[in-house]
Amino acid sequence: MTLTQHDIDQEIAAEHAAYEKRVADGAPVEHHPRRDYAPYRSSVLRHPRQPLVAIDVSKDPELVELSSPAFGERDITEIDNDLTRQHSGVPVGERITVSGRLLDRDGRPVRGQLVEIWQANSAGRYAHQREQHDAPLDRNFTGVGRTLTDDRGFYHFTTIQPGPYPWRNHLNAWRPAHIHFSVFGSAFTQRLVTQMYFPNDPLFAHDPILQSVTDDAARQRLVATYDHSLSVPEFSLGYHWDIVLDGPHATWIEEGR
Ligand SMILES: [Fe+2]
Repeated sequence: MTLTQHDIDQEIAAEHAAYEKRVADGAPVEHHPRRDYAPYRSSVLRHPRQPLVAIDVSKDPELVELSSPAFGERDITEIDNDLTRQHSGVPVGERITVSGRLLDRDGRPVRGQLVEIWQANSAGRYAHQREQHDAPLDRNFTGVGRTLTDDRGFYHFTTIQPGPYPWRNHLNAWRPAHIHFSVFGSAFTQRLVTQMYFPNDPLFAHDPILQSVTDDAARQRLVATYDHSLSVPEFSLGYHWDIVLDGPHATWIEEGR
């Protein structure tokens, strides 16, 4: 049977109601998504069924150092955080600036951290060989950027507003526009991956990936705010989004990366 958006919407509503009831009955607030969140079909198939095994790198630090990349193949250059200047021509779409702070649980800036992003182009198409969406590629847009946080913990990117895109979770499934973020840490095993969304996207309610974060406040922390002070005259609109690494205001981080 082909599942429709209506079927998925009903499942999302039931999961949300069940979560609200658990919290009302005294269960703790869930800042992370459920691993087997049924409306997101593949999450049911691929979440761990056994307790995770922690690798104690303190006993063999070389194990992780030998296999982990360090800042890619070359140093970060001036245009690595400007995805509109990485090719000979200008990419199609609405230019945006995205900035925010990387913070620890006490609100202190995390400095000198490698922040990487990847995203679809303005038509909702990734420049990736396994991409299946039949939308146009943009020869002037790769959709990949990186930067280091500054002394105040700020990162800064110039890019193109990504388009929403379809996926095959159910019939007529569309992902809200988003940018994937990675925060590298000091070793590959510390890498954290998450997604940033744009305010007031009409697809939020229909997206089982975003809705798998069942707590309303935790989900809202994945949504950037429009920030006019970050808009650049005659050039781009600005969005602000902070990443909090842990604690009660933590940004949801994808597990298993
Ligand atoms: Fe994506």
